[in-house]
Amino acid sequence: MSSVTLPIRLPDLPVALVSDVARFEGQRVQVRGWLYNRRSKGKLHFLQVRDGSGLIQAVMFKGDVDEATFECADHLTQETSIIVSGLVRKDERSVIGFELACDGLTVVSAAHADYPISPKEHGVAFLMDHRHLWLRSRRQASILRVRARIIKSIRDFLDGQGYLLVDTPIFTPAACEGTSTLFETDYHGQKAFLSQSGQLYNEATAAALGRVYTFGPTFRAEKSKTRRHLTEFWMVEPEAAFMDLDGVMDLAETMVWTIVQDVLRDCGQELDTIDSIRSEAEEDRQLKPRREALSSLQRPFVRLHHADAVKQLRALGSDISDGDDLGGDDETILTQQYDRPIFVTKYPAEVKAFYMKRDPLDVLRTLSCDLLAPEGYGEIIGGGQREDDYDTLLAAIHKHELPESAFDWYLDLRKYGSVPHGGFGLGVERTVAWICGLPHVRETIPFARLMDRLKP
Ligand code: 4AD
Ligand code: MG
Repeated sequence: MSSVTLPIRLPDLPVALVSDVARFEGQRVQVRGWLYNRRSKGKLHFLQVRDGSGLIQAVMFKGDVDEATFECADHLTQETSIIVSGLVRKDERSVIGFELACDGLTVVSAAHADYPISPKEHGVAFLMDHRHLWLRSRRQASILRVRARIIKSIRDFLDGQGYLLVDTPIFTPAACEGTSTLFETDYHGQKAFLSQSGQLYNEATAAALGRVYTFGPTFRAEKSKTRRHLTEFWMVEPEAAFMDLDGVMDLAETMVWTIVQDVLRDCGQELDTIDSIRSEAEEDRQLKPRREALSSLQRPFVRLHHADAVKQLRALGSDISDGDDLGGDDETILTQQYDRPIFVTKYPAEVKAFYMKRDPLDVLRTLSCDLLAPEGYGEIIGGGQREDDYDTLLAAIHKHELPESAFDWYLDLRKYGSVPHGGFGLGVERTVAWICGLPHVRETIPFARLMDRLKP
């Protein structure tokens, strides 16, 4: 077998990233990337070159290159990897404000002519099967940039508020969020479960360190196919000692507000790209353009008692009962009534996890809150105050038929210096879906894990 060495750069020319090309105005540079699209007109080739940081048009005029190069450009296939050289010049019509007056072209590797993703609209199943290539499209790349910005925003915010990053385990001996969505695995002959949430461990680290957060992948064997559920998703979970339900909501509100401001400031172009590439089904939803939607967001967020939410929902035609959790449709209808996110508070204990603290004013309810994102998006945060009384917690563990032996260490936290404490979990993918105005969480993570998808 013969092997070839592919070129990585041209000699004696600075490498410019498209995102940074303004810095090179009036200079000759090389841009290294992939052919996104190509148009030809008489003596001109227009090569759209994607380098990962952005998209630039390289204009090749027949008189500026030798015949072989001009001919070569005429046969370039989509996604061929190339190095183009040329002068960076201003171009008012370009989104990035510049183009390349191309004077050289090197093919790094010619792409097979059957690249499966063409500019025409493909079905979602097809695109998900080709996710490894779909990620190269402008919309998908923009979504991943917004996702990264959101994650940075969260980390900067919590670090700045004095929360310490702690990492909680993925292999766990017991359920945190109900036994129906556990992924079970064999752990050297012992049963183990993939973590549904780092919360219980966070409660231990909060008693050690005061204010903590964990940020990692979490797993739920969701058996429903909805636009909001992944089986593997990323969650940030702050937890603080000496914090009550109001404190939890104040922290969540400021964090979500900060995320939105950071994205508006730094990702305007990405949001516009996402808006400009929408399927017909998405356009039918008539969402506001994202910049407009996010900048019209109001503060303070609404805080609505569960009982009042139920009343409102019934008036709006829902068949929800007093003791029910809000269904996905309920959340959609409710959020469409407000111009800002809504905290629904004090859910009935029956529908919430064992660790929720009972409301002293109404013991059938909990000191819990969910934050519902506007425009029909629904729950992006779940949290509240934790049960801090040993006996009450033990009773709840029994009531939920959880194995007491797996929670002895967790009960210890109530034996040795228990304090009121609380926190929440924000799902990254649902937050990205709302901020980018996406119809489904599958586009918010590079490789979505869904009930029926483990590949690629
Ligand atoms: O409401 P959840 O289940 O709360 C907890 O896990 C708490 N232990 C968190 C805590 O207080 N530290 O999940 C929190 C958030 C949800 O609001 C949602 O955004 C996201 O995690 N989430 C999912 N995202 C995608 N796919 C799923 N299957 C999700 N399940 C929850
Ligand atoms: Mg929840």
